[in-house]
Amino acid sequence: MDHDDNFSAGTTTADVETAPVTVIVCSSCRDENGSDAHPRAGALLAEATRAAARDRHSIEVRTVECLGNCKRRLSAALLRNDCWSYVFGDLTVGSGSDLVAGAELFATSQDGLIPWRGRPDSLKRGLVARIPPLAVLKDQI
Ligand code: FES
Repeated sequence: MDHDDNFSAGTTTADVETAPVTVIVCSSCRDENGSDAHPRAGALLAEATRAAARDRHSIEVRTVECLGNCKRRLSAALLRNDCWSYVFGDLTVGSGSDLVAGAELFATSQDGLIPWRGRPDSLKRGLVARIPPLAVLKDQI
């Protein structure tokens, strides 16, 4: 896989515009033991992500009941309008700050990709898929 290692080292968040990013956390994912206990581990991750995103006005945290990524444990996605969308798995209940760090990188990205450099390790190892916006598909009929 190509790594999006194109974030210039001198760029700061003050230098670039900030676009809204939505973090979608699966609130139904179970913990590593597969426990049905409530709140589910995914709900705890959503709560931690909301706490980490507090005061970050460009980042919205939403939940969904399944991202179809159940075999990769705790799951979340990052979305930005007209940009690639990212799905992550193998997260933990402590990954909220990583998701927000990734969302901040995404929000200030000038090319609409989450840069590889600076991305939290959990969002490198846990990448499941990235999905392009329809506008970038080159094989449209
Ligand atoms: S229950 Fe979380 S991805 Fe399916």
